[in-house]
Formats: sequence, C-alpha cells, structure tokens
Amino acid sequence: MAADIAEQPDVLAGLLDHGAADIASVAARIAEYKPRSIVFTARGTSDHAALYAAYLTEIRLGIPTSLASPSVVTVYDSRPDWSDCLVIAVSQSGGSPDLSQVIAAARASGALTLAVTNNPASRLAGEAELQIDIRAGHERAVAATKTYTAELLTLLLLIEGIRTGTGRLEAAESAMLDKLPELASDVLDGSTSAELAGRYRFAERFVTTGRGYAYPTARETALKLMETSYLPSLAFSGADLLHGPLAMTDAGVPVLAVVGAGPGGHAMWNVLTQLGRQRADVVVVGAADLPGQTARLRTPAVDERMAAILDILPLQQLALHLAIGRGENPDAPRGLKKVTETT
Ligand code: F6R
Repeated sequence: MAADIAEQPDVLAGLLDHGAADIASVAARIAEYKPRSIVFTARGTSDHAALYAAYLTEIRLGIPTSLASPSVVTVYDSRPDWSDCLVIAVSQSGGSPDLSQVIAAARASGALTLAVTNNPASRLAGEAELQIDIRAGHERAVAATKTYTAELLTLLLLIEGIRTGTGRLEAAESAMLDKLPELASDVLDGSTSAELAGRYRFAERFVTTGRGYAYPTARETALKLMETSYLPSLAFSGADLLHGPLAMTDAGVPVLAVVGAGPGGHAMWNVLTQLGRQRADVVVVGAADLPGQTARLRTPAVDERMAAILDILPLQQLALHLAIGRGENPDAPRGLKKVTETT
C-alpha cells in the first residue's frame, strides 16, 4: 500500500503525458453524441470516483446525472430506458459481473456506453462501446489508492474535454493540471499523517465530512479507514451532518473535515462552527487554518476539482499509518480480495 501510494505522482504524470490523447478522442465522440443525461455505475472506491464525476458533470456540463444501482438490472431484472444517455462504468479491475450487466443492458436500450478501467482486457471494457484505460499500472495492495486518483484524473480530463467539444482542454485547465504531479509529490513528502496516526491510534470510530467535490474524499477516507484499520467510519456531506448525525459528535469522536479553498469549502464553515459547539475533535484537511480545528492535514489551496486528487493523498497515508500503528497489516485486510465480484 505504501508503494502504491508513493507512485501516484508518476501515475498522474504518465496519464497526462500518455493517456490524454485517448481520453480526448472519447470526449469528442461524447460531445458529438450530446447525451441527455449521464449515468454512472461503480462499486466501492470506484463509486467515489463516480460521485466526483457526477458533481463535475452537473457543475461543468449542466447535464443531469445519476448513479445507477446495479441491483435494478441484476436483482430486479428491470430495464430502464437509457436511450440517448451516456452510461459510464468506473472500475479498476473491470471484473465485477454486475457492472458488465448494467453496461450490456444500457447498450441494448440504446445508450452510448463507456468503461473507465485499469484493465483494458476485462469483460467490462469489452462490453462497452467506448473504453478508457486509466494507466495506473499493477496495484499491489487490496486497498485501492493509485487507481482511485487515476480514475479521478481520467474523469476530470474526460469531462473538461466534453465541455470544450473538441476533447482538448481549455488553456486554464491545462495549466492547472500541468502542476498536479509536482503538487502531489509535495503533498506526500510534506504530510503529517504519521503524527496524526499516533494521536488517533486508540480512536474507536471516525466521522468524515466534506461538501461538493470534497464529499467523495470524505467517503473514500472512511472506506480506507474501515478496510485497513477496521475502524467504524461514517461519511456525511457537511449538509447532511447537520440534519441529525451532528448529535453523535463530541470530543471523543474525531471528525476529519475536508475543507477546500472554493465554494464547497466555504459551505463547510457553518458546519465547522456547529462542530465547534459540540466540542468535537476536528481535523481540518485543506489549506486554511479554521476556527474550531484541533489538528490539521495541510494541502494546497487549489481549484476544488484538482483538490479532490490532492486531499485524498495524506488521508490514504493516515489510513496506512493508523493500520500499522494498531498492529494491522494494511496489505492484507481481513476477508477482502483484490477483485470483488458482485452480482
Ligand atoms: C477499496 C476497494 C474496493 C473496490 C471495489 C470496486 O479500496 O478497492 O472498494 O474499489 O471492490 O472494485 P473495482 O473498481 O475493481 O470495480
């Protein structure tokens, strides 16, 4: 897991240098198709990448988006009308049968289908009309790390490419992403996750939270903590946290709050104020020092679209260090396999 985490700056650079042209041609094809809606289907970590892409799609393209539940097709044997829609499956392995079944059903109903995967030879990639290789290379650990950030960057390149209509990026997005590999390297090198892991070695549970593009980061962090340290971790959008779960927070429940430097981050300030009133133990993940925080993981003040790729890095390291500190083996989480097949 440590090696996979450390490889991320190179994976991101490789994707920008060698994967962008293929992504641009798929984006141009989708722009020409003009989908009335974009539907994502995915599981686990890949589902969090899909959630990020759903925010991007609605915010940047103005196209209504949904996350398809595979059970609609696989368990209830229903066939929604996906004609004129784009249905995208996101999966590192491309190996879960339910995603392939959704793509097959969507294709049969007249949708344009796309598989975003780290395995171009997978059944899923073969089932979809279009496919994109996220080029993350072999991932050794069961817990997905470098495939997650590669999925995020792939989906960002895709959606920004659809936005221009040509598949290529606007100059502003190109300039922003040119800096990504170096920033990722700086974040990993400068991270204080190991110290934070010492502080929370005996924690019994976590709450994670963020809004907009940071909400998938909160979800993914909770998943990493659960699968590597077996720590019950609940993820909420900052808004949903205020609709009830806030009541369970107190000084004994660490809250990891992802607070970006844009609108999603600003929308978290009220959440932080309310957490402060609860005397919650709040770790702020982001660029700014904020009232009520008791600890922080510092990440750069960048556009929130790119922050999602950077903010998860010290949180992956936190999960790794916590697992080791608690005497667990993060490379071999109990009961899990690298490829989970669900139907
Ligand atoms: C978590 C993890 C799993 C997978 C999920 C989907 O670290 O790896 O949650 O993301 O099993 O797998 P893929 O992406 O192969 O469909």
